[in-house]
Amino acid sequence: MSFVSAQNIFQSYDGRPILERVNLEVDEGEFISIVGASGCGKSTFLRLLLAQEQPSRGAIRIGGAVPAAEPGPDRGVVFQKYSVFPHMSVRENIIAGESFRRPLGRFFGAAKKAARARADATLERIGLGHVADAYPATLSGGMQQRLAIGQALAAKPRILLLDEPFGALDPGTRLAMHDFLTELRAAAPMTVFMVTHDLAEGFKLGDRVLVFDKPRWDPHDPGAYGATITYDFDARDDGIPFQTIKEVANVPDQT
Ligand SMILES: Nc1ncnc2c1ncn2[C@@H]1O[C@H](COP(=O)(O)OP(=O)(O)O)[C@@H](O)[C@H]1O
Ligand SMILES: [Mg+2]
Repeated sequence: MSFVSAQNIFQSYDGRPILERVNLEVDEGEFISIVGASGCGKSTFLRLLLAQEQPSRGAIRIGGAVPAAEPGPDRGVVFQKYSVFPHMSVRENIIAGESFRRPLGRFFGAAKKAARARADATLERIGLGHVADAYPATLSGGMQQRLAIGQALAAKPRILLLDEPFGALDPGTRLAMHDFLTELRAAAPMTVFMVTHDLAEGFKLGDRVLVFDKPRWDPHDPGAYGATITYDFDARDDGIPFQTIKEVANVPDQT
């Protein structure tokens, strides 16, 4: 059985279908990029994986079980506009990310010193070493976003959910964050779901690129139908470029 499984997911808000008939099987360690028009339900799908909300129909399984509603250390998350802890310094924010894994959420003595050293190494790596003692409010938006990503990754989550995480960064910083994420995945395998508007970024980082789209469309009532996964591309470096693993939902049944 696959690590993450979505079985026949439907999600509606106030009777409006947003997602319909979403089926997905993901192996542990896969990097899944998600693209699709604005408003088609990509963030909704991530919230379902986080168990922040329950699907109207269908089931999500992670490691064979219904995911817990409390996002613990198993699932890290970075949204495009992520708020780091404003009352903590940059370094403390990274340590807080890591200490998520510990029962008491605290480090003492030698463990604290080691946690500081790890945090400082992470900060060097994401170009924030020189502001370790600063508070987030004094940083630029791009720096705060790098801090948010560093914080989520410090927890070494089994699943990382990224909702347009690099969208607000300048091109150079974005490339540096790509490298950072790629290195971390090489060191500690993580299953990643990343929503992006940038198709090239999706193919560069992803093993697969999923397209969310509406297979059915009523021009007189654009909200009549929900979106589903219409394409599932193989984006692995050794794969044939743009090979379709499956063309999922072109001819929907009318149930
Ligand atoms: N909690 C909610 N209640 C009502 N409507 C919602 C809720 N969350 C999202 N929506 C609507 O669902 C649709 C999909 O939203 P979203 O998942 O954020 O799209 P995307 O991330 O693909 O841009 C949008 O029309 C949005 O307004
Ligand atoms: Mg979104």
